[in-house]
Amino acid sequence: MRPRTAAVDGGLSVDPTTGAIAPNISTSVNNAMHPGDGAFSAEGVDDLAALPFLYARWTNPTVRQLEQRVAALEHADDALATASGVAAAAAIFFTFLKSGDHLIVSDVCYAGVHELARNILPDYGIEVSAVDLSNLDDVSAAVRPNTRLIHAETPCNPILRLSDIAGLAAIAHKAGALLSVDSTMATPVITRPLDLGADLVLHSLTKFMNGHGDALGGIVSGRTELIARLRSRAGVYLGATLGAQAAWAIMRGIETLHARIRMATENAGEVARFLEAHPKVKAVTYPGLPSHPQQELIARQMALPGAMLTFQTHDPERLAARMAEKLKVFHYAYSLGHSRSIVVFLKTDDIMASTFRADATRLTRYRQFAGDGVFRTSIGLEDPADLMEDLDAVLNAEG
Ligand SMILES: Cc1ncc(COP(=O)(O)O)c(C=O)c1O
Repeated sequence: MRPRTAAVDGGLSVDPTTGAIAPNISTSVNNAMHPGDGAFSAEGVDDLAALPFLYARWTNPTVRQLEQRVAALEHADDALATASGVAAAAAIFFTFLKSGDHLIVSDVCYAGVHELARNILPDYGIEVSAVDLSNLDDVSAAVRPNTRLIHAETPCNPILRLSDIAGLAAIAHKAGALLSVDSTMATPVITRPLDLGADLVLHSLTKFMNGHGDALGGIVSGRTELIARLRSRAGVYLGATLGAQAAWAIMRGIETLHARIRMATENAGEVARFLEAHPKVKAVTYPGLPSHPQQELIARQMALPGAMLTFQTHDPERLAARMAEKLKVFHYAYSLGHSRSIVVFLKTDDIMASTFRADATRLTRYRQFAGDGVFRTSIGLEDPADLMEDLDAVLNAEG
């Protein structure tokens, strides 16, 4: 199936009992066993997904359809869905790392994943280095004999800096390590990390994949043997399984993924150009603007520039307060990738103190993209004229 068809039909077959052509929600936690079904325990089973449906913590018919749909979109053999994006990252870390192993994690990535890696994994004897993954020399220099995983995010949240997936895959594989890529900000419409050499691709399904801001979810896609290991360790024993209702909602969201990403990207281009020309705006970062410093990599790795942009202003904290009070179309809120446009201010000093803890070199590089702080902006499906009017009103308001 070609990608746009897979978004609509991937993982789906006509229900043999009812003839339904749209996905049914199968809410049953357990399924009746038949003689010869085998496996009464997850212990020692190579691939739990190959068994008949037995218990919903490791497979459920609705969740399975979602997994197969996303696997098709990512050109993966298989996928494991989880209760959130952070659960997907935890599944990767706690399946492929053990005490004594070394993880290289992007020095800038979604805060919850970064904090999980740097604050929690060392408690389990895992060594963790936070590295600027946009600089391949830094990555090569950070590799140790016990490096088992490189975890990247591109474009990275919140500064929209890219990392070269093919370059990272070459370094990881030479070191005998795996490369996992958080592709939440890109979606398979824009980048397919597995085609570029990554071993695992992760999404917070909460964002663009569902696209409606009404369900939490996560997913990891990759080769059969890697996903089988994830399912039998994290799927079964971490217990952060996706529920059938959320899987159904997310699958419905994915049916319009291509249409949404194309429309939101068009809107984002208009808003980015408007902001770049605005006298109250200091800088805009958007992969679709010639001012983004990674043009060659964008052309090589992104089919579209996407729906995320950031901008910087003078006096951003007063503007943030004004936005929370006065925006009419945008929502001043966390999260991203929904049909509604969302903006939030992320102050560099605050995020450095709470999360990224960069040394002087990495801080200077962060500031090249983010200055003292960025308005992280997720563009939705509204009329772009309304979005620009809304931003113009708060940018021009006094006090
Ligand atoms: C790039 C990225 N990865 C992972 C996550 C975590 O996803 P969730 O909130 O579904 O746990 C987020 C959330 O904002 C994100 O932006």
